[in-house]
Amino acid sequence: MDQDARLRRRRLFVGAAAVVVAAVSSLLVSAQGDPQAAIDAAFTKYKTLNEGKNADYIPALAKVDPNLFGIALVTTDGKVYTAGDVQSEVSIQSISKVFTMAQVINEQGPEAIEKRIGVDATGMRFNSIIAVEAVRGVVGAGAPEINPLVNPGAISATSMVTGPNADAVWTKIIGFHNDCAGRSLNVIQDVYKSESDTNQRNQAIGALMSAYGYIKTDWHQAVDLYTRQCSIGVNAKDLATMAATLATMGKNPVTGKQVMDAKYVPGVLAVMATAGLYDDSGKWLFHTGLPAKSGVGGGIIAVSPGRFGIAVVSPPLDDAGNSVRAQRAITDISTALNGNPLKARASGS
Ligand code: DON
Repeated sequence: MDQDARLRRRRLFVGAAAVVVAAVSSLLVSAQGDPQAAIDAAFTKYKTLNEGKNADYIPALAKVDPNLFGIALVTTDGKVYTAGDVQSEVSIQSISKVFTMAQVINEQGPEAIEKRIGVDATGMRFNSIIAVEAVRGVVGAGAPEINPLVNPGAISATSMVTGPNADAVWTKIIGFHNDCAGRSLNVIQDVYKSESDTNQRNQAIGALMSAYGYIKTDWHQAVDLYTRQCSIGVNAKDLATMAATLATMGKNPVTGKQVMDAKYVPGVLAVMATAGLYDDSGKWLFHTGLPAKSGVGGGIIAVSPGRFGIAVVSPPLDDAGNSVRAQRAITDISTALNGNPLKARASGS
């Protein structure tokens, strides 16, 4: 074969390969949906939805603009899709509980959390004291039935982050959050002060958890650090990147940093699936199949393992303390993208 014929054959081959790649990726897009189109559709549909109310038991949260609405989705290959306001920050609140739990599991193994706190849904509100009383005396028997995503378990998890003093522990907590978000985050001082001035209930929970053996260090310090971690400022893009770090088995898909050991991620996702939306966790899982976590600042993150992390910020909450628009938008977007991991496994797609 002369050189020209070889060249023509190679061009033909390259052309055919490009056609096959384009066909396969368009098939994938049709099976897995178009993220930007799905996000834009949800943004338009829910932009004017007016249900719910900002949290006001932390006075600073009542002052946040209820119209703030941002959606971000980050895929496991690091692509970022957004709609609405993904710049304005809200306080991360309970979403931080996921990452402090993950940090403790990463450092001390999952059994540390399971033995000290438990990984069971309480079926009660996130700041229930009855939930603490119900398990009193169970500690030491191997299976306390709280979890690190309700306030008592979260304050206990924060107390388990090791360090010689409060500043050293804080540096680790914020450092882990930074690695997951892929940037340096800061505490919103107004929120921290407002919650510190009004968190007597969490102090009571801290004292009880200490009295019953679930907190082994200074509980005042644990409550303060917990309050600080809840006041970290994040936007929708930060939250989606944090969720995507879990979807990518502990590797931040934007920065490429392996933040935690991949083998511990399924346990973190399991607790999110069990208790991430508190007493509405079952309903949420029934409709979406997605491990998720809400915060009273108005954010919700959700994880489609191996596919994407998604986050919505919208402050008005329902009675369970979960953002109304965030729940609706994430449900629609995940449905459009075939993101339900339970459905995907069952159908083998
Ligand atoms: O401790 C609290 O009450 C708040 N810092 C966090 C609660 C929260 O975000 C519950 N989430 N839906």
